[in-house]
Amino acid sequence: MTNENSQGINIKGGKNEIKDNTFNFYPPEKPATAVNYIPYLGIPHFVGRSEELEAIHEKLYAQNNTVAISAVSGMGGVGKTELAVKYAREHTDDYPGGICWLNARDANLGAGIIQFVQLQMGLEVPQQDFQGNVLTLVQQVAWCWQNWRPSEGLVLVVLDDVTELKEIKEFLPKTNNRFRILITTRQRRIDINYAEISLNVLSEDEALSLLKGILGEHERHLIERLQDEASYKVHPLIREFLQAKLTESAEIKEFQQAFTNTFMEIAQTIPQSPTLEFIDSVKIAIPHLTEVAENLIDAVSDENLIWAFTGLAWFYNGQGLYALAEPWCEQSVSAIKSRLGENHPDVATSLNNLAALYNSQGRYEAAEPLLIQALELKKQLLGENHPHVAISLNNLAELYRSQGRYEAAEPLYLQALEIAERVLGTNHPNTVTIRGNLEYLRTQMGKSEG
Ligand SMILES: Nc1ncnc2c1ncn2[C@@H]1O[C@H](COP(=O)(O)OP(=O)(O)OP(=O)(O)O)[C@@H](O)[C@H]1O
Ligand SMILES: [Mg+2]
Repeated sequence: MTNENSQGINIKGGKNEIKDNTFNFYPPEKPATAVNYIPYLGIPHFVGRSEELEAIHEKLYAQNNTVAISAVSGMGGVGKTELAVKYAREHTDDYPGGICWLNARDANLGAGIIQFVQLQMGLEVPQQDFQGNVLTLVQQVAWCWQNWRPSEGLVLVVLDDVTELKEIKEFLPKTNNRFRILITTRQRRIDINYAEISLNVLSEDEALSLLKGILGEHERHLIERLQDEASYKVHPLIREFLQAKLTESAEIKEFQQAFTNTFMEIAQTIPQSPTLEFIDSVKIAIPHLTEVAENLIDAVSDENLIWAFTGLAWFYNGQGLYALAEPWCEQSVSAIKSRLGENHPDVATSLNNLAALYNSQGRYEAAEPLLIQALELKKQLLGENHPHVAISLNNLAELYRSQGRYEAAEPLYLQALEIAERVLGTNHPNTVTIRGNLEYLRTQMGKSEG
């Protein structure tokens, strides 16, 4: 039995009582069981990092170093905390003195240690020494380490997310004999005396197996899963991998493709005027969709190209965030022109979408030439009698009606209705809509004539 707590001083009922192993005022205590406190469960799809896990154990446990887990480029989200969780959960047996996880960023670390000892171990930390001198916070924390329960056995202390080492150093246990300290930090070489394990982004194989885990299910599950796991945090891990120019291997191409396809399917579900409920359900996919539009557009098929941008545009449009929607509408026009040529029906559709965005902001002058271009292009590509031509005519007529240009609007509605009735039939929803629009125009015209 070591004498770890022989100098411990407890205050109970306001009296100072000296407590040591030879002379105890209290009934003998039950042997304390170790507290294993790791506030994170660990993620289900943990991949790779086996070398790092071994290196941590070797340096921390066998060689008795303080170990700092950092990131090669100092970046967040690379998996430092997750690795510390994994290590701690795998090695509870190696630390019979318990595991103490402390958040070094938010809380005052000294207070955190005292709370840990009071709440988790049920000890009362004294306010004064036996001469009645008030203990400083640093002294109280020192008392905590000295009176740790159980009184023997290695203890793993994890300090998650250390930012300023100098602010917390005075609270750390002075001897490493019992306490092994594992730090996570965004800083490189936080202390020259610490052993450093610096994480890189996942290797190709690891990123692949993470992607397999995430993508291996139906898209709906994907959204739910991502919601549970704070998807955008997964993101930095796979982004580098997805963007890497060295992605020549067929398998990686295949996964880029799977990633892209998954988010393109989601993009196609976004309606032009999404409800808030829908926006909430899809928002978790938006950073990934942005990734596709910005960096993986080559993996998007010709047919889907328009959706890569339009999905994003409608997502923002539905929230009235026109300034965020506009660049995606513009990019849609230019990307489609450059991939599919100036004379493609999707050019017309994307011009139409940009015009719709201008319309919702009341920017009718900017919308008009786009709608005219779209109409001309559709006539040229699809022939005068195509149902899409009817839609284009209707849209231009709607614009004129919103501007009060009724005389210009009427013949366009009539043309649109004529085509729709002939090609789609009198009861087709588009025909019905156009007829309704024309009737509405006529009531407005009637009113303005008095
Ligand atoms: N080895 C891994 N396998 C699978 N997913 C991982 C792995 N490591 C991390 N992740 C995922 O990446 C996310 C971010 O990891 P983590 O929180 O550990 O990053 P961090 O480096 O501690 O970031 P920060 O600097 O912001 O604290 C985690 O939520 C987890 O979902
Ligand atoms: Mg972290």
